[in-house]
Amino acid sequence: MPLFTRIEVSEDYRSRGIGTELISAGEDLLRAAGYEQVALAVEITNDRAELLYKRLYFNEWSHGPITCGGVEVLEDGRRKSYDEACRIMVKRLDG
Ligand SMILES: CC(C)(COP(=O)(O)OP(=O)(O)OC[C@H]1O[C@@H](n2cnc3c(N)ncnc32)[C@H](O)[C@@H]1OP(=O)(O)O)[C@@H](O)C(=O)NCCC(=O)NCCS
Repeated sequence: MPLFTRIEVSEDYRSRGIGTELISAGEDLLRAAGYEQVALAVEITNDRAELLYKRLYFNEWSHGPITCGGVEVLEDGRRKSYDEACRIMVKRLDG
């Protein structure tokens, strides 16, 4: 199943519908390629993003949260990896 990862909009441009447009464009590409579902991982403390995904008809899968890898870009450009607890949310693309 395809997975959307690292969904991020520049801070100054958030809450203007850009994230919704990005996800919708990704879904269209996947539908055109014949996929029936898409998934994404959202950190369990990221309530605002989870709310957005629920509004866009993503549902949490039945297996509970998992540990996934996050990456933080430091001020000097280096990348720092860390583990975080995430919910996996899935959407059917034919609904
Ligand atoms: C989540 C994110 C990609 C959504 O993009 P966006 O362009 O702001 O989304 P839209 O304008 O289509 O939808 C707005 C909704 O996004 C969510 N949102 C807004 N700012 C957010 C933030 N800083 N963090 C998480 N979610 C946020 C809220 O549910 C918001 O709804 P509201 O304005 O009614 O509160 C964007 O806010 C972001 O980059 N957040 C920080 C990084 C992040 O949390 N990414 C998600 C990883 S799974």
